[in-house]
Amino acid sequence: MLYTAKEVQKLVKSKLGGYKFIIVSNREPYIHMHTPSGVRVKTPAGGLTAALDPLMQACGGTWVAGGSGDADRENVDKKDRCRVPPGKPRYILKRVWMSKEEVDKFYFGFSNQTLWPLCHNVFKEPIFKRSFWDGYKHSNALYAEAVGKELKGVKEAFIWFHDYHLALAPKMVRNGAPNKQKLVLAHFWHIPWPTWNTFMLLPWAEEVLEGMLANDLIGFHLHPYCINFLASVENVLGAKVDYKALTVRYRGRTIQVKPFPISVDFATIDKLARRPEVRREMKRVRAPQYIPYKYIGVGVDRIDYTKGIIQRFRAIDRFLEKYPKYQNKFVFVEAGAPSRTRIPAYMKLNEEISELVDEINWKYMRGYWKPIIYIKEKLDSDKLFALYRTANVCIVSPVQDGMNLVTKEFISANVDRSGVLIVSKFAGATEELKDAIVVNPYDVEGFADAIMDSLEMPLKERQKRMKNLRAAVRKNNVFKWLADFISEAAKLTS
Ligand code: G6P
Repeated sequence: MLYTAKEVQKLVKSKLGGYKFIIVSNREPYIHMHTPSGVRVKTPAGGLTAALDPLMQACGGTWVAGGSGDADRENVDKKDRCRVPPGKPRYILKRVWMSKEEVDKFYFGFSNQTLWPLCHNVFKEPIFKRSFWDGYKHSNALYAEAVGKELKGVKEAFIWFHDYHLALAPKMVRNGAPNKQKLVLAHFWHIPWPTWNTFMLLPWAEEVLEGMLANDLIGFHLHPYCINFLASVENVLGAKVDYKALTVRYRGRTIQVKPFPISVDFATIDKLARRPEVRREMKRVRAPQYIPYKYIGVGVDRIDYTKGIIQRFRAIDRFLEKYPKYQNKFVFVEAGAPSRTRIPAYMKLNEEISELVDEINWKYMRGYWKPIIYIKEKLDSDKLFALYRTANVCIVSPVQDGMNLVTKEFISANVDRSGVLIVSKFAGATEELKDAIVVNPYDVEGFADAIMDSLEMPLKERQKRMKNLRAAVRKNNVFKWLADFISEAAKLTS
């Protein structure tokens, strides 16, 4: 069966009909920003909001998220709500406000300097700081309070928390709810869960797990993350876990822990990628004054140390060194959206990437040609899809990534079926994408050879592989992910 927005809509109606539907995440799907030409609404980089917006557009409901735009406050009503998407409103966005100091401790602090490196396990030392932890607790309470307000007078609600920013909020919401209110709480953790002995490094490991176990259902992308979570619960809290049934028994309740690999809206991306605007942009990319060279590679990332961007550029350097016939013929376009730039590790990474790009370009540069074009922004969809369609190869090389939706976005936009995907063995998505070329980003030689292989691959082989990849993403699309999660959650309503 091919899942669509309509199926999910039907499912929500039939299974969660009487329930108030609430999503809670730190990142908001629409951001109001002041620009010289007035207020503009932007959408953020990152897979979470892109995956959940189609659900909310199809099913309606309320999305509680942190206000992050400088014009956000001017664009809500007295209850801090606005209707989105702008122009064709389908659901309510309720914003939670935090001061700069609160954001520093909660978002830049505990979420992204403690939990993010801890869960990704990438040799970036997590920072264990009391003030970050206090800020995290405080901000989770703000989210729980906002949810609590939405629950006033409601008999039944399904509340779906998202990600590592909100580990404590479920327990706070449950404790704050009146006894007779029927709540189904679910959580989807969008990043990996580390092994239990890594997780135990966290001085507040117990509280984080207790917060999460207030949920009825906890989802991860992959089975191994579920196992790591169960082992953490077993070792840290001494709770009874069943590794086969994927359940936890804790304080008289049973919690389901299950894998749900997230995906993208294949049909919409496929449709958008065929627009005449995209075709026009493809011509522009190929124009003599832009990229008139035979081979194009593309990378699209949030600038983050988990994404393996440095490793990718080192491999490109080695590739050009080892296979010099590609000099003057291959250009790699990296579209890197700046992210979390207040955090020292991210500032340093930005500098390192720029320096490495300069160094590689200097080393090979000949006349107008240079091997790397580094665009430091999030591209609009026409430009992005044009690049995906023009590129001979898309390289996704995280050193650790829960799933990575760029892989599936590239596949969905590859309507000509001629591109090749190179993907790191450390991306969650790799498990499903059998026809991609898999690399270890730390293995410079193997990675350089994989780039060569991708460019030399005969058209027939490329088409065959891309056809299979597209079939896999078409079937396992974001609506299947939503339907699977919601069906599982709905079982808990009786
Ligand atoms: C990852 C996280 C999301 C986050 C996104 C963008 O995908 O799992 O929770 O929203 O990155 O990061 P940001 O810090 O900008 O929200």
